[in-house]
Amino acid sequence: KRKIIIDTDPGQDDAVAILLALASPELEVLGVTAVAGNVPLALTQLNARKILELAGRVDVPVFAGSDAPLARRLVTAEHVHGKTGLDGIDLPAPAMPLQDRHAVDFIIDRLRREPAGSVTLVPIGPLTNIASAFQRAPDIVARVERIVLMGGAYFEVGNITPASEFNIHVDPEAAKIVFDAGAPLVVLPLDATHQALTSRDWVEAMRRLPGRCGSAIASWTDFFERFDKEKYGSLGAPLHDPCTIAWLIRPDLFDGREINVEIETRGEFTTGMTVADWWRVSGRPANALFIRNLQRDGLFALLSERLARLP
Ligand code: BDR
Ligand code: CA
Repeated sequence: KRKIIIDTDPGQDDAVAILLALASPELEVLGVTAVAGNVPLALTQLNARKILELAGRVDVPVFAGSDAPLARRLVTAEHVHGKTGLDGIDLPAPAMPLQDRHAVDFIIDRLRREPAGSVTLVPIGPLTNIASAFQRAPDIVARVERIVLMGGAYFEVGNITPASEFNIHVDPEAAKIVFDAGAPLVVLPLDATHQALTSRDWVEAMRRLPGRCGSAIASWTDFFERFDKEKYGSLGAPLHDPCTIAWLIRPDLFDGREINVEIETRGEFTTGMTVADWWRVSGRPANALFIRNLQRDGLFALLSERLARLP
């Protein structure tokens, strides 16, 4: 089993990513660490616990981490995810506790405790917690098996500014630390995740699942779909974050290139841009596997098969 830590700002698509991981026997979720992003930290840690309770997995510990980016004011995305960050269905207040320890301490301790190269980090929100852990404990970088993150955009440009994707835009200084760290890195940018659009049939099939998770997933994606429909005229909700978990299970569904990706932190118009050297013109060494395409049908078949296993 591959051990993973999911660092997240739920988020309807974060929720589906967490559920996909919990439903996948190849993966062991060591913990879920919350970060401020789509909504403030008080809500993301709460939402993370609601999701785990929905899945009946109160054994997976939830930790609260950074409540603000390293060097900037927090930008949130209620316009996409709703006031709670997880609009679409009202879930009960969670009974499972929030862990006492800070998420950054948990990430550091766990990476030091587990055998080197055995823990994969899956960040699906702004990179503040991961960067803070790397800054505070540089020794853990070499112990990370791999980082598989959702963030950035290149040919697809931005979704929060013309040039930048939300997760990178919120904390570009943190993103720079993570991209420069030297740990093996897989990047699922909008170029790929905008191909992961739900279809009506798929959502209705989720709604018909006998368990409670299926109808929650359908309600979340229905809510999440509104934004992309109004904004881009696209049909369906983009399941950005689940692409990271899907890559871990079925990397054959994705293709990309090992290239150099730099994070713009001081652009006049482009702060938070992931400058991806797709044509390898810079001569700078590759630091990421940058995914550009995915097989949509295969991805949704995987999602259907796995999510149907949940309660
Ligand atoms: C990313 O931003 C968030 O709104 C989503 O959860 C996803 O992680 C997409 O840009
Ligand atoms: Ca997210």
